[in-house]
Amino acid sequence: MNVFITLLSYDHGILRQVLDVLEDISENDTWKYYEDIIPQAIEFLNKFMDQYHHGKEESFLFPAIPASESSLREQIDHLIEEHKQVKIYINEIESGSELWDLELLRDSVNQMTSHMRHHIIEEEDIVFPRIAEHLDRDADMALFEESQKYMEVRFGASFLAEMEQFANQFQNRVMGEGVIKYSSSGA
Ligand SMILES: [Fe+2]
Ligand SMILES: [Fe+2]
Repeated sequence: MNVFITLLSYDHGILRQVLDVLEDISENDTWKYYEDIIPQAIEFLNKFMDQYHHGKEESFLFPAIPASESSLREQIDHLIEEHKQVKIYINEIESGSELWDLELLRDSVNQMTSHMRHHIIEEEDIVFPRIAEHLDRDADMALFEESQKYMEVRFGASFLAEMEQFANQFQNRVMGEGVIKYSSSGA
């Protein structure tokens, strides 16, 4: 088992939880009930999805693959382009919220959620298993330790727990308590 990739997949579980809730609000057009919590959801997208999760992939996982692995590098470059695209969607969602333009909010949330779902599947089913073949146990542990230190300094030791807590709160608020949550562990 690759520890670093397993933790990235764990992040995906938290991301999917928030994407599901945003999609639910968009489908049911219930924005007005959640106006107070949308800024926190946008902060989650900026900090956890863009800076923390995509930051970990781009700063630690992806550089582990040398340029000589050209077909895998091409897939990685494509994922990095998708990270840039998702940042554009987050900015649109932010504008939609600031202007309280519900059409912009709905369209940008729908585009962002479907883009991210596709992106996560591409990573988990295609690219991560290929990257894992290039990481032996020592390389995996080195990535894990370096990234933990780096992320702790940048985001604080309790950041992941806080983001998880937000995802649960947001889900409970919109979908009700007791809804079966997505779990990357299958538990
Ligand atoms: Fe990614
Ligand atoms: Fe990812």
